Amino acid sequence: MKKKNKILILGAKGMLGSDLCFIFRKDKPICWDIKELDITNKKEVEKKIKKLKPEIVINAAAYTDVEKAEKEFFLAKKINAEAIKTLAKICAKIDAIFVHYSTDYVFDGKKKNGYQEKDIPKNPVNKYGLSKLLGEKVIENCKLKIKNFKHYLIRTSWLFGSKIEPTKHKNFVQTILKLAKEKKEIKVVNDQFGKPTYTFDLAKATKKLLFEKKPFGIYHLTNEGVTSWYKFAKEIVKVTKLKIKISPCQSWEYKSLAKRPKYSILVNTKLPRLRNWRKALKDYLKAIKTV
Ligand SMILES: NC(=O)c1ccc[n+]([C@@H]2O[C@H](COP(=O)([O-])OP(=O)(O)OC[C@H]3O[C@@H](n4cnc5c(N)ncnc54)[C@H](OP(=O)(O)O)[C@@H]3O)[C@@H](O)[C@H]2O)c1
Repeated sequence: MKKKNKILILGAKGMLGSDLCFIFRKDKPICWDIKELDITNKKEVEKKIKKLKPEIVINAAAYTDVEKAEKEFFLAKKINAEAIKTLAKICAKIDAIFVHYSTDYVFDGKKKNGYQEKDIPKNPVNKYGLSKLLGEKVIENCKLKIKNFKHYLIRTSWLFGSKIEPTKHKNFVQTILKLAKEKKEIKVVNDQFGKPTYTFDLAKATKKLLFEKKPFGIYHLTNEGVTSWYKFAKEIVKVTKLKIKISPCQSWEYKSLAKRPKYSILVNTKLPRLRNWRKALKDYLKAIKTV
């Protein structure tokens, strides 16, 4: 029998993390969340990972609250950048592959036709995006300084899920379903564009990337199809046959602490494309048992 890779998944209880643990289940991954290992605790990270000696470390742990990050930048930076330095260095030391996720929000959102993997991110419009960009820079630095640093940096966007715990995680689909129970009409922003992505599809694509031993580097993995938050909401309501009326509005009409990029479209030029987000959404809604 072929030897299984020893895989460590961090942020295992998160939206993406829970689907990763399921997708890799046959490889018997070690699944840790903050209770088992706080990635900001440098000493513990070094001690526990050195002891475990995984061959692959998949980091789905992150600070992901875009609104709160405006006020808690210190903490966002600690989790999304400083902890990444510790993880990357320990992976290099034990010769493990380091898989890390980043976001469309590292870009300024001004490029209408989207961003390719080779595009250099700059001027993120909010603090969460800045903290994730600092995390990317840490990885870039390790690549320059450490010979044979094995890493995959996967940018993704507008996540919804998970398939395994479909109602546990806060995401846009859950928000619309909740509002549909409470209100007759809502306004949704129609001037921000992106690619909604199902965590289950992303987890599967991550496994394929690893097991097909693609060259190390940056990848863009999202479901295909560009939409606005308004059209995304309309599709949720259409599929679930909910009664709520959705009207379009402009970003300035929507009160929020954090600015969002206008065109945060990630273009995948290196890997087979994932399916359209509408098909993925239907599967997710089935998992929630709304259709
Ligand atoms: N959500 C999106 O729309 C989106 C879009 C683009 C990219 N991404 C990226 O995709 C990845 C996965 O996102 P997600 O939405 O699945 O995240 P998530 O649901 O917020 O899960 C993150 C997990 O990490 C845990 N965590 C937080 N701080 C930690 C720490 N110090 N040590 C260990 N674990 C910690 C969280 O625990 P607590 O819940 O207890 O804090 C949570 O279980 C992240 O890198 C994110 O930046 C997400």
